[in-house]
Amino acid sequence: MRIVFCCTDTKPAPWLEGFRNALPGATVEAWAPGAAPADYAVVWAPPQQFLDEQPQLKALFNIGAGVDALLKLKLPTGTAIVRLDDAGMSVQMAEYVCYAVTRHFREFDAYEADIRQGQWSFRRPRNRKDFPVGVMGLGVLGQRVAQALRLFEFPVYGWSRSPRMLDGVVCHHGGESFHRFLSSCRVLVNLLPLTPATENILNRDTLARLQPGGYLINVARGGHLVDDDLVALLDSGHLGGATLDVFRTEPLPAGHVFWRHPKITITPHTSARTLRDESIAQIAGKIMALAQGESMDNVPGVVDREKGY
Ligand code: NAP
Ligand code: GLV
Repeated sequence: MRIVFCCTDTKPAPWLEGFRNALPGATVEAWAPGAAPADYAVVWAPPQQFLDEQPQLKALFNIGAGVDALLKLKLPTGTAIVRLDDAGMSVQMAEYVCYAVTRHFREFDAYEADIRQGQWSFRRPRNRKDFPVGVMGLGVLGQRVAQALRLFEFPVYGWSRSPRMLDGVVCHHGGESFHRFLSSCRVLVNLLPLTPATENILNRDTLARLQPGGYLINVARGGHLVDDDLVALLDSGHLGGATLDVFRTEPLPAGHVFWRHPKITITPHTSARTLRDESIAQIAGKIMALAQGESMDNVPGVVDREKGY
């Protein structure tokens, strides 16, 4: 069996070693133009030339959860696209979102500013019932985040495409209930995949439906958010703030308003990182199962190209 590794901005050596250890019978190599045809590929933002040269691949394993960038390329028609299915990301995402929600709710950002001024002062405790949190996307990451937020006793709402049931979470689904979902929430967490149906979904109309003092946490993709609409709603005072981990252009260009806006906290796309060992174990396990005759239908994380996730 031949496996080719083609990941932009990723040092190949430790990945190759990890796959060679996990799959001792396989030939595992980094891709170079003109490489021999492989059975499986491990990719992140591969060049189009790679895909054009490897039309026979049985599966492409993406070393991230989101496949929006991959699906923009011309992909071989018979090849399954498999994304990471958690692989250590959901706990990181739950940690990040709970931190952002509690930092806002408890006003830790304001305490940090007070302390920097040498000021010892207290703020009035707030009622968490007044901070209902909505999670857009109840997949692998959204479910874990919603459940983690419940542990802090926030009212939690969720929204997905198809019906979902989650203990302690008021679940909505589909376009018809979207506005009802938004108006139930004061804090909004975005964990949707970026698809034609969800691009620009965080805009002036939708964000204005959040309760006054609303707070946005975008940890999915920059293409979900209309940047100027967020700034307008923050400046008008309808929204109280935002934590943003993802951006239309990454790295965020110097001079972009998000760098300096007083109500915006940014991080450099780091809320849930790809963990190498976990990812290698997951992908190698799937390759072994497929090599032993398992059907692709039983492999978690196979992407539906029509839906785009
Ligand atoms: P997932 O398991 O595929 O879950 C996606 C969820 O979104 C599902 O609940 C799905 O609904 C829902 N959804 C999709 N399209 C929708 C629509 N049009 N309307 C309503 N709901 C819709 O994905 P995941 O593993 O949780 O990852 C989610 C996203 O997080 C990724 O695509 C990626 O962009 C982002 N991400 C970011 C980072 C980071 O570091 N910032 C790290 C990892 C991932 P159904 O349940 O009905 O299918
Ligand atoms: C990171 O953003 C991912 O999609 O895994």
